[in-house]
Amino acid sequence: MAHYQRVGEVPPKRHTQFRDEQGNLRYEELMGEEGFSSDSSLLYHRGVPSAIVDSQVWELPDLSTQANHPLKPLHLKLHSLFDTDTLAWKANDPVTARRLVLGNADVRISYVVAGEASPYYRNAVGDECVYVEDGDATVETVFGVLTARKGDYVMIPRATTHRWLPDTAGGPLRLYAIEANSHITPPKRYLSRFGQFLEHAPYCERDLTVPSEPLLCEGTDVEVLVKHRGHGVAGIVGTRMTYATHPFDVVGWDGCLYPYTFNVEDFEPITGRVHQPPPVHQVFEGHNFVICNFCPRKVDYHPLSIPVPYYHSNVDSDEVMFYVGGDYEARKGTGINIGSISLHPGGYAHGPQPSAIEGSLGAEYFDELAVMVDTFRPLEIGEAGAASDDGVYAWSWAT
Ligand SMILES: [Fe+2]
Repeated sequence: MAHYQRVGEVPPKRHTQFRDEQGNLRYEELMGEEGFSSDSSLLYHRGVPSAIVDSQVWELPDLSTQANHPLKPLHLKLHSLFDTDTLAWKANDPVTARRLVLGNADVRISYVVAGEASPYYRNAVGDECVYVEDGDATVETVFGVLTARKGDYVMIPRATTHRWLPDTAGGPLRLYAIEANSHITPPKRYLSRFGQFLEHAPYCERDLTVPSEPLLCEGTDVEVLVKHRGHGVAGIVGTRMTYATHPFDVVGWDGCLYPYTFNVEDFEPITGRVHQPPPVHQVFEGHNFVICNFCPRKVDYHPLSIPVPYYHSNVDSDEVMFYVGGDYEARKGTGINIGSISLHPGGYAHGPQPSAIEGSLGAEYFDELAVMVDTFRPLEIGEAGAASDDGVYAWSWAT
């Protein structure tokens, strides 16, 4: 995010002496992407950010996957994965209780219903884009505090130490975690060559929320779970590092790399006389995948328009729709509901269930909300994907 921010105390000149009132030096850390050649921030710590006293194996949850073979479209019912009739979900935390739904070598999609604070954690494999399906939380980070609410995309850059604190007063926290092996950014075509959002972009800098003040905590021997690249399942392993002093000790930072939130209600849909293609709904992109959202909107206004999509073959991608609000017009009659995922894989043409086409004629407004991930490598099915498969969706166009 090439959108400069400055929080707390920073020295007037970078890479110069910066002392507290007792004369102790602050420890400067540059957190930067692409080997000093892309966005970065400078953070000023009270303690040494490298001072660890222990490092142990952290056994990750099941990341194994199986191929979608024989090839089929799937309907996965994510709300069936966690029992909310009992209070068992209250013991889950938003990081270690994530269950893998779908994944490939570029991105993994997990789901969790949580009520407990997570451990301190950072994902050194790639950026995380965590969509809040429902509930409220505080996200403490080394850059400061973010609040998370229903409809927020919580964007956590690679290797940002943070933890989630669910607020369960209004019910469970439901998170849809999109974990990349790369960075996740607004689409390049929304940005000027210097990184400012352009006029045609469906959102802009004012719609992003960034930590506004430093978060300073005291403590010694603080554990941080680190997910990082290695030789394990999916090439990912975990380490439990113990820090000599609390990692939340940054008195100030500035730069263009930081966590932020963006709420889906601040996305301004682009509409037209005839059906607009999915790229107009795009919100973010990572390496080999995109994230789009289909928001409540006025629909196509040509007198003979068909508001639901035409059938389409994603010859280069797998499409994952996560239905989070309203009633998704093109899927009517399939059993797809709030909390459902549909997977429409490459190599297979998909579109509305036939009854939805006639049913959409004359509509002026769609009250629907869905988050879509399109991947350019095929997705495989994680343990939670297999556990939530309805088993019959593939045949729903023929009935
Ligand atoms: Fe599609």
